[in-house]
Amino acid sequence: MKVAILGFGTVGKGVYEIIKKANIQTQNLSVSHIFIRKSRERILPQMTPDIDEIVNDDQTDVVVEALGGIEPAHEFILKALNHGKHVITANKAVIAKYLKEFTDAADANNVKFYFEASVGGGIPWIQGLEKALRIDSVNSISGIFNGTSNFILDQMSRNGQSFSEVLSKAQELGYAEADPSADIDGIDVANKLCISADIAYNINIQDRSKLPVFGIRNIKSSDVKFFEKNGYSVKLIGQTHQKGNKFDYVVEPTLFLNHTLEANTPDNYNLISLNGDTIGKLDFFGQGAGMFPTANAVVQDLLDIKEEKDHLKRDFNNEMEYSPELTKNDYLVRSNENVASLFKDYAPSKKDDYLVIHQISTGEMHRIMKSILKVDHAAFMVSLPSNSSLAGDSSISKQEAVA
Ligand code: HSE
Repeated sequence: MKVAILGFGTVGKGVYEIIKKANIQTQNLSVSHIFIRKSRERILPQMTPDIDEIVNDDQTDVVVEALGGIEPAHEFILKALNHGKHVITANKAVIAKYLKEFTDAADANNVKFYFEASVGGGIPWIQGLEKALRIDSVNSISGIFNGTSNFILDQMSRNGQSFSEVLSKAQELGYAEADPSADIDGIDVANKLCISADIAYNINIQDRSKLPVFGIRNIKSSDVKFFEKNGYSVKLIGQTHQKGNKFDYVVEPTLFLNHTLEANTPDNYNLISLNGDTIGKLDFFGQGAGMFPTANAVVQDLLDIKEEKDHLKRDFNNEMEYSPELTKNDYLVRSNENVASLFKDYAPSKKDDYLVIHQISTGEMHRIMKSILKVDHAAFMVSLPSNSSLAGDSSISKQEAVA
């Protein structure tokens, strides 16, 4: 089977290297073309800056899109599908936006569109989710979806290093996106969560404007130390729940007691969990970022196509309503401003440098936090597990509260 790779960055190179390995060559996979931009040097004979040469080549069976970003990735994926090529991509940003369009184009052209590497790097998460859905309704998904932010939080906690020191290290290791703000501001998690929710609920999330996303850009070493002193680790979590015809989703820093699986997910690892009605809770753990784990998932898709292993069919046509009220949590907020009155309906109380907010919906919490960030760019918030000792007595009356 002949494969064209679009892009020769972290993922493209990884796929090329794995295909070159002897045991994979016995599977009869070879690289026919590598698309590179005109400005790049042609260091391998297969390299070309001409996408039409690739899609018009009758010998090429599969196109692996590893360019990243939205355009021209979107245009090239459609072009390849419409020229009868199977397409595999690890590009979560483009899939989150165009999953239905790509799936419809693949169906119309009788080819496959597979994207295992887009969520969870090397973890067979999409495959696991699709397998669960053969039997179950999946009514919640939750987890650590971003290797870079996990690496940063883990290193800050283990070595007491500062945020910026650890971010540079994550970039050197090839975990971070070209623009690492996607990793630290939660956008990358949001993309992966949308793809997972689309598959789980068979929906097509298009309006992302209401999706509550808060990243780890503002976390300080002193926050990490305070959480640790109280027996917690902080993780950047993506979470979605479904109830009847409603669903919610949220991306936010969340505390976990030190004995939990989440708290013990190190380095660039991801931990993604689903809840199905007969399987119960199912956890998926592995390296969520990095050249070879991600490329490994791409090559698994290549082998599935070669072996004609079909993935679950979804039409993404279910209509469901996003509800910002579905989930309520306790939160800690750190701000230099006096913001307690904004939370007057949620029994705010003080705990060290933090304001404790009780039982507020995720939608309302993020709406208020957005307004705080306009006056205090360094403000930070973290969601607490239920019944956390840090929340104190959640029955605290409004009179006792600091508002
Ligand atoms: N930047 C991403 C991460 C790469 O750190 O998880 C894998 O999707």
